[in-house]
Amino acid sequence: MQTMAIIGAQWGDEGKGKITDLLAEKSDLVVRYQGGHNAGHTIWVNGVKTVLHVIPSGVLHPHCTSVIGHGVVLEPENFLFELNRIQKATKVTPDNLKVSETATVITHYHKILDAAREAQGNEKIGTTGKGIGPAYEDKIARRAVKVKDLFDKDTLVQRLGIGYAEKAILFKNLYNIEFPAVEQEVERLYALGQSMKDYVCDTFSLIDTSLAKGKRVLYEGAQGILLDVDYGTYPYVTSSSTSASGIFTGAGIPNHKLEEVIGVAKAYTTRVGEGPFPTELFDELGSTIQIKGNEVGATTGRKRRCGWLDIPLLRYAIKSSQLTSIALTKLDILSNLSELKVCYAYELNGKTVDCAYPGINLYKAKPLFKEFKPFKDDFSDGKASADLERYMSYIQEALGIPVSIYAYGPDRNQIVFKKNLF
Ligand code: IMP
Repeated sequence: MQTMAIIGAQWGDEGKGKITDLLAEKSDLVVRYQGGHNAGHTIWVNGVKTVLHVIPSGVLHPHCTSVIGHGVVLEPENFLFELNRIQKATKVTPDNLKVSETATVITHYHKILDAAREAQGNEKIGTTGKGIGPAYEDKIARRAVKVKDLFDKDTLVQRLGIGYAEKAILFKNLYNIEFPAVEQEVERLYALGQSMKDYVCDTFSLIDTSLAKGKRVLYEGAQGILLDVDYGTYPYVTSSSTSASGIFTGAGIPNHKLEEVIGVAKAYTTRVGEGPFPTELFDELGSTIQIKGNEVGATTGRKRRCGWLDIPLLRYAIKSSQLTSIALTKLDILSNLSELKVCYAYELNGKTVDCAYPGINLYKAKPLFKEFKPFKDDFSDGKASADLERYMSYIQEALGIPVSIYAYGPDRNQIVFKKNLF
């Protein structure tokens, strides 16, 4: 097997980072293809915690080349800060970290606009406030600054100038906020560009030549399929293609196809920000899961909303990203709970619906639950009890694809591979 993808199968925060970190051991390249520093991938190695936002989760393996593809929106200041921090923990050089020259740059204007809209706009999305949406808007409108533009001041003046006039009107007249002049932003971005220049290259050709040499490439998704701008629960989504299809536009798999697509799902469901959530728990059990699972955003520190595992949503995720197997994470959090449920279908307008197709109004979908005998595993021997096996078998059968990996803790040695991958 040469190509594999790790994709969030829910609303993000499924624990993709730790699975990617483990599979990176056997990979030559780990490639991010969308999103930006709105992501927060937490990896634990021997009790030491590392949080990555835009740098791929393969970076803790120096033999592996980490690639930030052209579909990513990159905030240079944050990138350099993160790079500096990670360099204290592991060896990261321009030889093993590459940034696409055509990735889109997040500027100060994007961050200001994101914050202003969330604070003063009519409809709150509950964004991470990192400027992600406004940066993608500029990309699609063909007025974005690309990473390669950072190396020439005249180009920066020209590219920033295109959108500036419009933004200035918004900032001054609609939001009444301070904003930097173009000259100031040009100087800031140029200086940042000089600091990251050595890491920048044509990542598409790097992936192409690597695949041609038989190297193994692992694509790392950020957020989750239900936050995909097209497949997700619009408008409560992020602004990128988080599903497997984003790989083709955001990085490329020249002359190859995806051989394995692992959908990472928590054994329950969480979501941050606004939007529908059929299995959400508003009772004490919900807050028990939130506290026990430490369900707090790695990027924003916001509490995550918690609920039972939602099979109809996962069925939709499988169909929309051609998932080939599931990695089930955070099983330890469900151990020893007073009750254990899985939503197998919804009741909607008097009918039973078993797949959360986009036409389904999730606000009106009433979850139908199957109850399980709660498992009481302490995982000390790394083995699953009969009760836990029964729970996982049900999920596997209901989804129609295997559970290839399960995790009962955040550390590398708490992740069990049921299938040999890579
Ligand atoms: P944005 O990506 O900052 O524009 O936020 C849009 C939506 O995606 C909000 O509901 C965020 O909470 C959500 N979101 C963005 N990144 C993540 C993530 O890494 N995990 C979970 N939710 C996220």
